[in-house]
Amino acid sequence: MDYFEIEGGTPLNGTVSVFAAKNAVLPIIAASILASEGTTILRNIPDTADVRTMLSVVRQLGANIEFDKKSHKISIDATDINSCEAPYELVKRMRASFLVMGPLLARFGTAKVSQPGGCAIGARPIDQHIRGFANLGAKITEKHGYTIARAKKLAGNILHFDRPTHTGTENIIMSAVLAEGTTVIINAAQDPEVVDLCNFLRKMGAKIKGAGTSRITIEGTTSLHGVKHFPIGDRLEAGTYLFAALATGGKVKIEGCIPEYLSVVLFKLEAMGAKITEGKNYIELRAPRRPKCVEIITDPYPGFPTDLQAMAMAVLCISEGTGVIWERIFESRFLHVMELQRLGANITILGDRATVIGVDKLEGASVMASDIRAGAGLLIAALSARGKSRISRVYHIDRGYQRIEEKLVCLGAKIERKSE
Ligand code: EPZ
Repeated sequence: MDYFEIEGGTPLNGTVSVFAAKNAVLPIIAASILASEGTTILRNIPDTADVRTMLSVVRQLGANIEFDKKSHKISIDATDINSCEAPYELVKRMRASFLVMGPLLARFGTAKVSQPGGCAIGARPIDQHIRGFANLGAKITEKHGYTIARAKKLAGNILHFDRPTHTGTENIIMSAVLAEGTTVIINAAQDPEVVDLCNFLRKMGAKIKGAGTSRITIEGTTSLHGVKHFPIGDRLEAGTYLFAALATGGKVKIEGCIPEYLSVVLFKLEAMGAKITEGKNYIELRAPRRPKCVEIITDPYPGFPTDLQAMAMAVLCISEGTGVIWERIFESRFLHVMELQRLGANITILGDRATVIGVDKLEGASVMASDIRAGAGLLIAALSARGKSRISRVYHIDRGYQRIEEKLVCLGAKIERKSE
């Protein structure tokens, strides 16, 4: 297994660009299943473990897939899909594989998908997805760890989510695009990645209104075709480098991401003392000598993203004063805290709140990644720490970032990937 060896203390300086957003690319690859003719071409796609897993799921269904990793281009021909089953071996690797349920049900009237397990950050049930499919007329059964959905023809309906669910909204939209009649989703997720999926589906011929608001209307149509698409830049990748620059006292320019998608995050970065300059498709950050502590509350978009919580915490650890993080999306998204404490951080957890008392410097140590974003948070802490650190289980980080060390080296970081 790979690990990172890091020599902390070097300010990050320079310019990097981001790839297409993982959390837009995964539902868009699933949505390509809906095309009964033509080929889908996607560009700027990162070669990460999650992208490879989602491609394996769709290939397993019978689609013809090519991934040119040099040009970051994917082509998917879903005309000859001949299976509606997503197996346990693939779904257990990545819960987002469950996103194939909606498109399979819509196009073929049947879907058999292994139930995604929980994961490090919480139970992550899929009850709202299932309730949504049933609301559109699907018959749902559960057998031997699989969820099976069947419907001769889905019928449009009005459905309410108890709380905004990112992939839940995406799964229901992808099932409603070929339903009979109109579907209205109330309390829908408003994330930019949901909007990008809807833009992709509209290009395929779907009729969708209200994407990016809490009320999305989908008018069912008869068939959809393959299209070309350049997904939005990854705001979470961009945010990771911005917090890394803040933690190390550097100055960076991140290209390929739209500042508006990170507006609450940029507001918090400025409150921490960063100087932010925004362009149409880039963000520049100049760090202060030492950041200031703030309070952060994670919330559904446009609130502060839970996926940048670990990165923000890493910076609070060496900021002036006392900060508080209130994690309101997942019930156990503080696994990185124990690892940060190994680096000398002063953090106390009380339920869903973490109080961080800033220390002057963290000290290098050996730590372990537990999920994609916790791993990225530890990376940031190690880059700011005095001395050497080692981060093991890098495969977690590789799920969401293509060889993150290469971009960090471009910014001057002293980091090396080694194998155990
Ligand atoms: C998406 O997960 C993202 N993944 C996650 O990013 C992200 O952390 C999360 O949204 C929140 O923004 C992808 O887009 C592939 P939710 P998702 O449904 O859709 C509860 C990363 O690192 N819930 O919005 O699974 C759930 O337990 C990953 O890139 C139900 O109770 O998250 C959570 O508490 C990690 N029942 C809350 O809703 C359901 O049926 C929000 O979850 C569905 C969700």
